[in-house]
Amino acid sequence: MPTGMEINVCCAAMPYRQPLILFARTLCPLGSQAPAPPRTRYATAAHGAGSAHTGSGAAGASPPSQSTSRPYSQRQAMEAGEGTEETPLPLVLTRFQLSEEYGFLLPDPLTELPAPYGPWMEIAHDLPQLIASHRLRSQVHQMPQLSTRHLRGHEELHLAHLVLSFITMGYLWQEGEEGTMKVLPQNLAVPFWEVSQALGLPPILSHTDFVLANWRRKNPNRPLEIENLDTIISLPGGESLRGFILVTLLVEKAAVPGIKAIIQAIRAILQLDEETLHKALQELAEAIGDMSKALKRMHDYVDPAVFYAVIRIFLSGWKDNPAMPDGLIYEGVSDEPMAYSGGSAAQSTILHAFDELLGIRHSEESTAFLHRMRDYMPPPHRAFVEEIHRAPSLKQHVLSSGDARLCTAFNRCVSALAEFRSYHITIVTKYITVAAAKAKAGQADAGDRAGPSAVKPPSALEAKGTGGSHIFSFLKSVRDTTREGMISA
Ligand code: HEM
Repeated sequence: MPTGMEINVCCAAMPYRQPLILFARTLCPLGSQAPAPPRTRYATAAHGAGSAHTGSGAAGASPPSQSTSRPYSQRQAMEAGEGTEETPLPLVLTRFQLSEEYGFLLPDPLTELPAPYGPWMEIAHDLPQLIASHRLRSQVHQMPQLSTRHLRGHEELHLAHLVLSFITMGYLWQEGEEGTMKVLPQNLAVPFWEVSQALGLPPILSHTDFVLANWRRKNPNRPLEIENLDTIISLPGGESLRGFILVTLLVEKAAVPGIKAIIQAIRAILQLDEETLHKALQELAEAIGDMSKALKRMHDYVDPAVFYAVIRIFLSGWKDNPAMPDGLIYEGVSDEPMAYSGGSAAQSTILHAFDELLGIRHSEESTAFLHRMRDYMPPPHRAFVEEIHRAPSLKQHVLSSGDARLCTAFNRCVSALAEFRSYHITIVTKYITVAAAKAKAGQADAGDRAGPSAVKPPSALEAKGTGGSHIFSFLKSVRDTTREGMISA
């Protein structure tokens, strides 16, 4: 029996391939086309099995250079003795498709596709009802096979990916985990594949679709507050689904000053500017604290019974999922089944970026999973993480500076990150473990609160996340290794 093949999603990302020398650029005598300086920091474990990365996946751990007390890039900078010009922050952000105001979120995503894509939009806007009435599959079968050639620019491509990924999840999970399909029909599979190739994203719903590209302001003149926000495309789960997406969006938004602080911190290291570095670390710690505050709002907007019984299955993938052990055939694309993990905030770039900056080293198994999740990020965001990985080590810099203030600021960041991860475990316990126990005991009734729904909660994923991890051993290990990243006195 075929086990399913995992497809390299990276190489499809030609339109967004970036020069990756941004932080060191001003200090490098060869300018922006120069190769990256040799890495002087601990290498994290190799990218996971099946990873599509080729760029920075050096295996094993190697000790930092002992030849000098200064990191290589600083020596190089001083030797270069020139280059005070600095790439403006907005330009650096733009190169990684990051926005100064919205971070990794797509700024003001499009909500409508050009007219020829009316048949997709009509189905997508009606998904909860079509799924509840078991009509989505027949609607998809009647859908014309549309060419993707009228899609222009990455905003339209992102909206097309969002729409097709939601239709795909609804199509596959319409009858719950006992009524899955082995084949995604050609009229859906082929355009979905083409749009995925163009964006360098996998042909499945990812965090990018679910959250980053799936929001709109109700009143364009009012701020990004949950009351003024809505999703563009929905699935069953009613207000809880909306809350789940939008609270996650607020966590992404709270991270924005932290993303900017990363860039400031790396620049400050390169320029030996301890004052700016200290400020950047303070801003980073504060941003992580604000992310934890935003995460707490999950309790106000998401009902655990609805999350567990209704929403979760539609985020499930077809890799490491006993409900779809053979993966999925994308008809008209390949005769071989393909396996992809489901949507998970483990695919959000934020914590990957923070881990890289702070030099957090997770266990080999957790690293393999997290690196696999990077294949589900837009390539420019993945490139941002890889660029941070290549930058000089913040931890080494703080250690060798012997500056107690920097040490304290660094530890505040690590501790805030560990606290975020601890709080996240509390949330996961409530929304998965406790909710599963209640569902089993027959105490939970998602009832009307869920909006229209027709499927049973998934049992195949009781101990696994939608990304496919063994939930608690993974989350606790990642939290504990974060704590170990502190600098001891
Ligand atoms: C009801 C709310 C949530 C639940 C039930 C939940 C559940 C999970 C689960 C089960 C995992 C394990 C990976 C997998 O297999 O999917 C995970 C990982 C992760 N989640 Fe969540 N999550 C929730 C909300 C959030 C939010 C709002 C964020 C913020 C962006 C977030 C960020 C992460 C991250 C970064 C990971 C990777 C592990 C780490 O780096 O610590 N989660 N989540």
